[in-house]
Parts: sequence; C-alpha cells; structure tokens
Amino acid sequence: MDTIIETKQLTHTYSAGTPFERSALLNVDFSAYRGEYLGIIGHTGSGKSTLIQHLNGLLKPTSGQVLFQGEDIWSDPKRTRLTRFQVGLVFQYPEYQLFEETVYKDIAFGPKNMGLDEKEIDRRVRQSAYFVGLRDDQLDKSPFELSGGQKRRVAIAGVIAMEPKVLILDEPTAGLDPVGVESILSNIRDYHQFHNATVILVSHSMEEVARSVDRLVVVNDGHIPFQGTPREVFRHGDELEQMGLGVPQMTRVFHRLRQLGVDIDPSVYTVEQARDALLAKLGKGAV
Ligand SMILES: Nc1ncnc2c1ncn2[C@@H]1O[C@H](COP(=O)(O)OP(=O)(O)OP(=O)(O)O)[C@@H](O)[C@H]1O
Ligand SMILES: [Mg+2]
Repeated sequence: MDTIIETKQLTHTYSAGTPFERSALLNVDFSAYRGEYLGIIGHTGSGKSTLIQHLNGLLKPTSGQVLFQGEDIWSDPKRTRLTRFQVGLVFQYPEYQLFEETVYKDIAFGPKNMGLDEKEIDRRVRQSAYFVGLRDDQLDKSPFELSGGQKRRVAIAGVIAMEPKVLILDEPTAGLDPVGVESILSNIRDYHQFHNATVILVSHSMEEVARSVDRLVVVNDGHIPFQGTPREVFRHGDELEQMGLGVPQMTRVFHRLRQLGVDIDPSVYTVEQARDALLAKLGKGAV
C-alpha cells in the first residue's frame, strides 16, 4: 500500500515545563494510505484532535516527525505551507470559525489564499457549495443567518474548495440530528469517490465509522493500541469496552452468543453480516 501521510514516533506535550504540562501523544506511529477512507476513533481526551492537527502542520511535534508524501513537513517553510493546502482539515465544531460577510466569501477564503484566479475560485466555490447541498441563493447570505447544520456545511465546503489530497474531518457529525448526520456522511463518501482523495474521519461513534470506513485506527490515552479493518478491530471487543468505546450493537450480540457457547464468528458488525453469519451457521448459505 502506498502511504500518503504518516507520523514517526510522534510525541506532543501541551504546556511543557509548566504545572499544566500534559502529554497528549507519546511515540505514535500513524499512517494513512493513498485513496483510503480511514476512521480514527477514541474516547474523549484520547488525543484524536491533537494527532490530526499535526497532519496538516497546525501543531508542531514536541518530538518525532510528520511525513507527507515521504517528506518531513517541517523540513522547510515552503513544504509546511504546501501541506496546509493539500491536507485539508475541518475542525471540530467548525461553524464557530466562520467570519466573512457572506457564505461565498467564507468558502472562497482557502482557494484565494492558494493564489488561484477569480474564475477558478468561482468554479470551486460553486462546486463545493453544490457538493454539500447549499443552494445558490444562500451564497450571498451572511453565514450567521444560517442554521447550525448549514453553517457546518459552509465550513466543510470551505475546506473541500481547496481540493485537498487528504481531507480530514474532526467529528463532522457531532450534534447533528440523524438526517443531518446521514447527509453529511453521504457528502463525505461522495468527495472520497469523486476526487479519489484520502479521507480521514474522526469520530467517537463506532456505529458511524463501522459502516463508513475501509480501515480504523483506535486512539487511547495518546497511543494507538489497535488498527485494521473494522472486522479486525472489533475482535478486540472487550478491550474496546474497557476503553469506553462501545462496539457496534451487532458485534455485541455476537460476542454474547459466543460467551453462551455458540461457535460463531464474533467479528460481525453490520446487520447484513449478522444475517449471513447466522444463515451459514444454520447451514443455509447466504441469501
Ligand atoms: N490546548 C491544550 N492545552 C492543554 N491540554 C490540551 C490542549 N488541547 C488538548 N489538551 C489535552 O490533551 C489531551 C488530548 O486532547 P484531544 O483534544 O487531542 O483529545 P480528543 O481525542 O480530540 O478529545 P475529544 O473527543 O473530546 O475531542 C486531553 O487530555 C486534553 O485535555
Ligand atoms: Mg477532539
């Protein structure tokens, strides 16, 4: 697999040398592969946001390295700047960071900074607004006139308008109603497919990542204890529970069946997989 972005022995300590010193990441080796849809999951305070803010150079490692396309992003300022454009980061609760007079200007901010010409900026603003389901007539509004969910869409559009090779979203569905969650997840899936981009979705919901991503990285207490396909990761059901991370409901049911002595594959995580596993068990084959 072709690695696009990675960390080597990444350590981050907040407020080092003060009474508030807090080690948020310790010797973390992380990698994301070109074109994959990767989930990062972990309990509150485990270090997820700290990790991803290193990937686009927003935070500087206390020690260790961040490599983008094989090069250390801090090796020279030009490279750091390039990484900030090519690795797009949608913050946790990004709607609080909108600041321009109009939605259009907010979405155009990133592309403008990249030095693109007016025509290209306009194309990108309209395309990314369309992508996240904003209407043309909303472009001239003040972002503050929009609902919380729509503001979130503006913030996401502003990052995808830079057409990043790696799109990272920090809990993009937090606080949205179920319809809003579905619609944002589907926009993200479309971005992944349409641009062949690497997408990194940070979440603390196992149900959410399980049905979206190709691969999962678990963060716990500044470390990465497990990573792999959702199926591989959910085999560690008991350890995940201890970390305060529920496994998906179906996985829980199958673990319980195993505890009750049923010889069944416990790495199931969707209803469809559960159906197939049960039918196989009953000797009927998948339908
Ligand atoms: N600016 C900061 N100064 C000091 N400590 C911080 C700072 N930001 C985060 N921390 C601490 O670092 C640790 C990791 O925080 P981080 O925000 O990366 O976790 P997270 O997994 O993103 O959590 P959440 O799910 O709540 O967003 C936590 O203990 C947190 O309190
Ligand atoms: Mg966070």
